[in-house]
Amino acid sequence: MDEVVFRSPRKKGRVAVFLSGRGSNFAAIREAVERGEIDAGIALVFSNKADAPGLLKAREWGLETLFLDPKAFASREDYDRALIGELDRRGIDLVCLAGYMRVLTPGLCDALKYRIVNIHPALLPAFPGLHVQQKAIDWGVRFSGCTVHFVAAEVDMGPIILQACVPVLQDDTEEALAARILVEEHRIYPRSVGLYFAGRLEVRGRRVFILEPGA
Ligand code: GRF
Repeated sequence: MDEVVFRSPRKKGRVAVFLSGRGSNFAAIREAVERGEIDAGIALVFSNKADAPGLLKAREWGLETLFLDPKAFASREDYDRALIGELDRRGIDLVCLAGYMRVLTPGLCDALKYRIVNIHPALLPAFPGLHVQQKAIDWGVRFSGCTVHFVAAEVDMGPIILQACVPVLQDDTEEALAARILVEEHRIYPRSVGLYFAGRLEVRGRRVFILEPGA
């Protein structure tokens, strides 16, 4: 068996959520935190869009928010370097990408190895990228779903933490399939973050093992 390259920490964590849009996954994570299902607090909600609805929601809920304007930086590397500074300053343990529509630079991915997770609305490695619900319908697959994974430098790659499956129906529309998948996203994303701070994720090679509680 491959050697262990990472074991998630068992601690009360500080989470940063990155989003660019409505933030329903953010809301699902927050609810799980409130219910005590995740041993962490949301220490920051960050966006590259000043008017992201998720950011406004975070403010209403009294969470710390941050917007960095991409136009104010000379390069993507500069932007992500500033971001790393903001995360360090706040002692962030884990970044949850939740509809963050900006590709992370390799510098950011490397600085936070095994400390960034993402949710993708397809069963990776099938259908990386955008508009993946429509792609699943067009391809004619019978099942699609969602994937929570650690983030590696390539888009939508990295060790898979949890996946959930939904049927693709004959008369599906992109919206209908997306809604069916979203229900599962809201279930497996908080669950993955909960497992992370329960110290129950172990990465060997590119496989993530879920350890028994207390293991
Ligand atoms: C979700 O479909 C997620 O899988 C993808 O972006 C969408 C974000 O939705 N990465 P929301 O902002 O969490 O509602």
